[in-house]
Order: sequence, then structure tokens, then C-alpha cells
Amino acid sequence: MRYITMALAKGRLAYKTLEILEQIGISCEEIKDKASRKLIFINEDLRLKFFLAKASDVPTYVEYGAADIGVVGKDTILEEGRKMYEVLDLGLGKCRMCVAGPPSAKELLNHGELIRVATKYPNIAKDYFYNKKHQTVEIIKLNGSIELAPIVGLAEVIVDIVETGSTLRENGLVVLEEICNLSARMVVNEVSMKMEHERITKIINDLKKVL
Ligand code: PRP
Repeated sequence: MRYITMALAKGRLAYKTLEILEQIGISCEEIKDKASRKLIFINEDLRLKFFLAKASDVPTYVEYGAADIGVVGKDTILEEGRKMYEVLDLGLGKCRMCVAGPPSAKELLNHGELIRVATKYPNIAKDYFYNKKHQTVEIIKLNGSIELAPIVGLAEVIVDIVETGSTLRENGLVVLEEICNLSARMVVNEVSMKMEHERITKIINDLKKVL
């Protein structure tokens, strides 16, 4: 029996995913050792391999088949736009992708003005403004602390993840428009889904029962 390989987006999501997998009898003790620098972990009995990767790389591993299965946020799936099947909503890490800014920026959105949009998610922002709102904007890619952009005058609005809303609140910003809901999803390589249909479907169905 060949190994089925699972790529998990490293961080809190990976550990929560492992807890859920344990509920369906899939465990990997070694991976839980946070001090370890090991990159790949094997459950010989189940013929499963696990690895932790940067979230934005998980769809790449899955599209190319280096991982048969991946667990990653919907934000990353939308941004990366890779070819693969999204098979399950794990309901973890629920949050929203929003357009946010100072309350005064609402007018700029309503009137379709040429504004600057700062974001870690240029593809999601482009799709939303160009294809859904038909508003021409300038997109400025940032890598973190996106909320700074409207405060220091880099952009009028941001496209970013809002979970509790406290980052926005503490910086005098508000949600101006909602783009979509987000949560962690299980994704599967298209060829693996055919070649290992039975084993992968069993994992999906077992997970559905405990979610
Ligand atoms: C994310 C996101 C927001 C914040 C939202 O940032 O980009 O800044 O969390 O959470 P809240 O609504 O609960 O305040 P993250 O902490 O991942 O760091 P980043 O600034 O590097 O993007």
C-alpha cells in the first residue's frame, strides 16, 4: 500500500487539525513535538505521511501531487487559485474577508472612486473590485500589519481578514464591505482523488461524522 501524504498549514490550525484527525483514529505523536525541527512524519501502520508547510505553499504541494491531501484556510485557497478539489469545510478558524478602513472611506466605495487598496491578498482584492464591483482600484501588496496602511496614508482601504474585529476597533477602523466567509478546508489532489479514492473518501466521511 502506498503512502498517502497530508500537508498541513503550520501553526495553530495544524494542531487543531491533528486533534480532529485523532478523533477518527489518525494520530501522529511525533509531529506534536514543537521543539523538533523534523519536517516529515510517518504513521507506518496507516501508511500516512504528514508534513507542515507555510500556508501559502500548501495548495502548491497539493496541485502538483507532492501532497495528496492538504488542510489550509479558504483565504489561501482563493488567493493561490490552484487546481485541486476542495472537499470539506473543517469549520476551524472561522473569520471573514473584508474591505475595511476609516468610516469616511465608505463614500469612496459607494461612488466607485479610484482608490488605493492595501492587502496581503492581491488576487482576492482584484477579483472583488474588478469582477464583482467593477471598480478600478490600485492594489498595493503588503505582507503584514495591513491595518497600518489607511492610518499612515498608504491606502484609503484594506482587504484583510477580520476575526474578532479588535485589531480594526483599536485602530479606529471599521468593516466597510464583506467579501466572504473563511475557515479551514480540506483539499485533495485531482489525480489522488481517483487513484486513492477509497482511502481518501473514508477519511472525508469519517471526518464528516465527527465535525
Ligand atoms: C490577522 C489579520 C488581522 C487580524 C484580525 O493578522 O490580518 O490583522 O489577524 O484579527 P482580529 O479581527 O481578531 O483582530 P495576523 O495576526 O495574522 O498578522 P498580520 O498582521 O501579519 O497579518
